[in-house]
Amino acid sequence: MNARFEPSGPLRGAIRVSADKSISHRAAIVGAMASEPVRVRNYLDAADTRSTLCAVQQLGAIVEPRGDELLIRGCGLRNALSPANPIDVGNAGTLMRLLPGWLSFQQGLSFMLDGDESIRRRPVDRIAEPLRLMGARIEAREGRFPPFTVHGAALAGIAYDLPVASAQVKSCVLLAGLVTDSTTVIEPVPSRDHTERMLAAAGAPVRREGSADAGYRTTVGNTDELELAQVEVPGDLSSAAFLIAAGVLVPGSRLLLERVGVNWTRAGFLRILERMGAIVLSDAEPPGTFAPHEPVADIDVRNAPIVGTTVEADEVPLAIDELPLVALLGCFAEGDTLVRGAGELRVKESDRIASVVDGLRGLGARIEALPDGFVVTGTGRLEGGVLDAHGDHRLALLGAVAGLASERGVEVVGMEAAEVSYPGFAEDVSGLAS
Ligand code: S3P
Repeated sequence: MNARFEPSGPLRGAIRVSADKSISHRAAIVGAMASEPVRVRNYLDAADTRSTLCAVQQLGAIVEPRGDELLIRGCGLRNALSPANPIDVGNAGTLMRLLPGWLSFQQGLSFMLDGDESIRRRPVDRIAEPLRLMGARIEAREGRFPPFTVHGAALAGIAYDLPVASAQVKSCVLLAGLVTDSTTVIEPVPSRDHTERMLAAAGAPVRREGSADAGYRTTVGNTDELELAQVEVPGDLSSAAFLIAAGVLVPGSRLLLERVGVNWTRAGFLRILERMGAIVLSDAEPPGTFAPHEPVADIDVRNAPIVGTTVEADEVPLAIDELPLVALLGCFAEGDTLVRGAGELRVKESDRIASVVDGLRGLGARIEALPDGFVVTGTGRLEGGVLDAHGDHRLALLGAVAGLASERGVEVVGMEAAEVSYPGFAEDVSGLAS
């Protein structure tokens, strides 16, 4: 499906963006692992998180919609059921990498996971390696791609140095580590900590040592059961980021994004925007905080002139999904904008270095790819044209925002990809533009 996004008049008003995808996935998975029913408010209704609900139902959890809540009746930590069919993760990388953490200790059971064309290009060796070290057996196509099978076993604890700064890998190892005496994940730079917070809220002994600058060692173990009465899913900062960028770039705009999750391990984009001189105000959580809840805040955005900035490797995991927007903002900034140490972008839903650089260049941007990032020369404008989403939801949404801020509009090829994380985006924008 193609969709056109014309240059926009001022965007104004208050809005609640769609619910957080990362936290929704975790609520469904931790809910399925829990012994007592878990009430989830504001669960994201989008393609990725529907895949997670289907997966946990296949494993024996019961999901009951109750008004604006979901009630998840879990299986208990060690009691997942054997699914009749392979688990289809669809487009959801987070589901594909987190769920095996739980499956790996369902002794005597085997689980096959598969997904769409994009998922079949995404590596799973990064979770297979630590799970093997713990004692589970994983068989993957060509040793590293889906479809793959997890054979559950009795697990032993490990201390695992993350070779890539990935919250998905960290989360997988921590979920598996719950049934070991002690499992520690060492991350050189911090990444999102939603799993740690939710496990702590569910009564698991989670210990975190280290600092925001030096990275963390997170330890779990010896958990008999998880109990989590309720999860309230905040608005998704990664979805809000598209409206924030639109508000900064479209002349005359003023937006209030309500009840957005501002966990500091997700809020790197807000700090980058601040350096660029954008006017974006919120009560962000201080870096270094660790709490069993997820903080929320209203984000107040105004159109303003911006300047280029540099994003280095230590900041990358804290803004990983928003880096395509940093490239777009760079087009409108004064001076250069440089992102490096972001090679992980190449293994997202698309190769996001190639797709962002080609996509924005096709709209008139001066942008060059680097092996691990990109550099943009700001010209203060973007002409417009056609951008192919390559089946990647964040590319589709990037093209849409580029259109609103451009001189002659953008036609997004494959806009349906946005259904994966932010189905109501086009309606939200028209509401703010009227
Ligand atoms: C996610 C972690 C990130 C991010 C993805 C969601 C999560 O992936 O890009 O959209 O929910 O844990 P990596 O952990 O692979 O960097």
